[in-house]
Amino acid sequence: MIFRQLFEPVSSTYTYLVACEDTGQAALIDPVVPTMSRDMKLLAELGLQLVMTIETHVHADHITSALHLREELGSKIAFPAINKLSCADIQIVEGTPLKVGHVVIRPLFTPGHTDDHFSYVMQGRVLTGDSLLIDGCGRTDFQNGSAENLFNSIQDKLFTLDDDTLVYPGHDYHGRFVSSIAQEKARNPRIGSDTSIDQFIKTMSELELPHPTFIEYAVAGNQLCGECPGDLPENMEKYCQQMTESPQG
Ligand SMILES: [Fe+2]
Repeated sequence: MIFRQLFEPVSSTYTYLVACEDTGQAALIDPVVPTMSRDMKLLAELGLQLVMTIETHVHADHITSALHLREELGSKIAFPAINKLSCADIQIVEGTPLKVGHVVIRPLFTPGHTDDHFSYVMQGRVLTGDSLLIDGCGRTDFQNGSAENLFNSIQDKLFTLDDDTLVYPGHDYHGRFVSSIAQEKARNPRIGSDTSIDQFIKTMSELELPHPTFIEYAVAGNQLCGECPGDLPENMEKYCQQMTESPQG
């Protein structure tokens, strides 16, 4: 398997490239508009064919490049089935693996951050999207989020994976890249160790995070599989513009 972790700095999102060495087929998990050209360049450099884009959930902080990638490369769009998006080609449900060449990706339904959220397990690692983060977890205060559901998703689904499973989150805001189930079980300050469900619900209700400025545009755009809104205010244009490169070496 070919595996790359890619960072998009506008929304601090990790996009993951997963590909099959035997067939050259590839998938991008949570690709983002501003870094679409970079992702296409990488696919070309590695000689891979993008067959599928996969979303962990309908995002509130960035717009997926799924639609544009389908237009450019003919990839199929996979979204959690619960969203019933007519623009999606593949409806993701737990129990039905996604196949990228010979690589099998196992979707795990992990609601709580949002009510449609999936994590993806493959070859000793799990992509946790915005459910379990490194030393943290996704917020639960919009898009039908539920601290109780997130607690159960993490405890019953993610923390029951093998301890040495590598945890690759959908975001990190502090420059961290990867963790493991054992580390998060032991030391995640929000949900690790012996945190009770009541403690967790209280912690999540007291976070007082600012309302995301881009949410109305992002959710609407992502429900269309990645349409940039025409009426985007000037201060939000960065979410829909390709980032220019300035290599320093
Ligand atoms: Fe999210």
